[in-house]
Amino acid sequence: MDPRRSAPAVARNRDPILAVLRRVLPPTGTLLEVSAGTGEHAAYCAPHFPGLIWQPSDPDPAARASIAAWAAQATLNTIRPPLDLDAAAAAWPSDRADAVLCINMIHIAPWEAGLGLLRGAARLLPPGGPLVLYGPYRRGGAHTAPSNAAFDASLRAQDPRWGVRNLEDVAEAAAAQGFGPPEVTEMPANNLALVFRRAG
Ligand SMILES: C[S@@+](CC[C@H](N)C(=O)[O-])C[C@H]1O[C@@H](n2cnc3c(N)ncnc32)[C@H](O)[C@@H]1O
Repeated sequence: MDPRRSAPAVARNRDPILAVLRRVLPPTGTLLEVSAGTGEHAAYCAPHFPGLIWQPSDPDPAARASIAAWAAQATLNTIRPPLDLDAAAAAWPSDRADAVLCINMIHIAPWEAGLGLLRGAARLLPPGGPLVLYGPYRRGGAHTAPSNAAFDASLRAQDPRWGVRNLEDVAEAAAAQGFGPPEVTEMPANNLALVFRRAG
């Protein structure tokens, strides 16, 4: 059986995400991707950064099998075997990264996973190193589109610990870990890209 999974949203969001990454990623070093899911973003984006080692991760074994299978087909061999990384865990199986990327996770996981992501990224990144988040956010407590409000309700119905996060809450939690305020880029389909950088 082919272990590769496919998420329809990736075909829609991978180019806008790639455009943000082109602006903010360092040319060399290691990028840690948290919650890499199917692995399609890694396979698509990594070849555009030939100087970067791309380290994907996901706590779900089926996701890791999919990531490895997509990576085997990438046009450049810079993607490492996926790590078993739970963002909420106190210890991560990685102790350094020059950039951290997390796409569509913090609203589909308990808030503790988002807090763990910020804590772990702050521990791994050098001063100035980017933490890139992508997904839907509320702003000032309000949804930015009716579709996001409906999505939020469906997430909370699946698991009351899930839900579209408030941008200001994420920024405040990031500041508590030593990150500066995020650079916010509006993305298609009412999503945002947030780029946090560790203060020097
Ligand atoms: C909606 S998928 C997004 C996957 C991929 N980034 C994408 O955009 O297609 C959410 C992913 O978050 C992962 N995830 C859930 N809880 C997590 C946690 N505590 N730490 C890290 N990843 C987690 C899931 O295993 C899943 O692969």
